Amino acid sequence: MSRPRSCGAGARRAALALAGAGAAAAAAAHVWSRYVEIHRFTVREHELRILPPGTRPVRILHFSDAHLMPDQARKIAFLRHLETLKPHLVIDTGDNIASAASIPVLADAIDPLLRRPGAFAMGSNDMFAPHRKNPLRYFLRDPRPEGFTKRHREPDLPLGSLRSALTSHGWKDLTNTRASLRLTGLQVDLVGVDDPHLERDQFPAPDAARGAAPDAARGATGEAGADGTGRTPAAEAAATSTRADEAPAADVPHLRIGVAHAPYQRVLDAFVDDGAQLIFAGHTHGGQLRMPGVGALVTNCDLPRAQARGLSTWRGVPLNVSGGLGANPYSNFRFANPPEATLLTLRPQRR
Ligand SMILES: [Fe+2]
Repeated sequence: MSRPRSCGAGARRAALALAGAGAAAAAAAHVWSRYVEIHRFTVREHELRILPPGTRPVRILHFSDAHLMPDQARKIAFLRHLETLKPHLVIDTGDNIASAASIPVLADAIDPLLRRPGAFAMGSNDMFAPHRKNPLRYFLRDPRPEGFTKRHREPDLPLGSLRSALTSHGWKDLTNTRASLRLTGLQVDLVGVDDPHLERDQFPAPDAARGAAPDAARGATGEAGADGTGRTPAAEAAATSTRADEAPAADVPHLRIGVAHAPYQRVLDAFVDDGAQLIFAGHTHGGQLRMPGVGALVTNCDLPRAQARGLSTWRGVPLNVSGGLGANPYSNFRFANPPEATLLTLRPQRR
């Protein structure tokens, strides 16, 4: 004879157990992402063979989206640690700070990097202080109100102070402009834009004086996951990192690099059409939200989710999108998405 009351009680117990397990898993994920993963700073390394034969290897350090607050001691320590990678060139794709008080702290933490050749593009969080956001808004096609743009709003963060700090030892400000710098045996021609997420990007006009065709092959294949054992000795790093020579050089190979905060497709296309051989961007925070086995859920721009973090290509040109070093301080967590900087080692193409 059946006993429906007992079966009903069993189903309720199972449902409660399931709900409890789900709540426990959610709580564990929250604790992990808020107090553990947010501090698991890592350096992602890749090799790219895009330099002309005979060119010396070049190490490029790329960091982005630090969203630094003055009390973030572990992030500050990691920023200091990056100098030990001895990059020949540093690329910063913005969203450096989360408060005005963060500027001197950032400048102090990256002071050794500021003394190396470098360049930067600004992000929206370099201009506007963060505020509380609902993470679910990222699932909207564009979470901003119709017609919203901050282009004509005055920044409420001291953008000039940040710019002064970043350029204090010669880093190039790539806000809608071009710049060049010389490494040993290589001229680097840079082009950058202001933050496309705020529609502040105005691609600079072609530079006729630097109109020479790129030396390195378009569409070189990235060799992701290198372990970094190919690093050159520190002595070579010091030699290669000689302060930039501003004068364009016709007698050395050129490398064209595009730099932007937010990797919107229109900007990536413009870089490719401009002859870029390598593109750097940030903004995506590795997808803002990631799920194990699924990857990025959103990119907060029109970049495909599969390219939300790491080295890929855009129309055949290597594209490195930094997963970023931080998060909005009001939603300061990362899940399946450790904070990262990237070390790209550029090597000569094989003959
Ligand atoms: Fe950011």
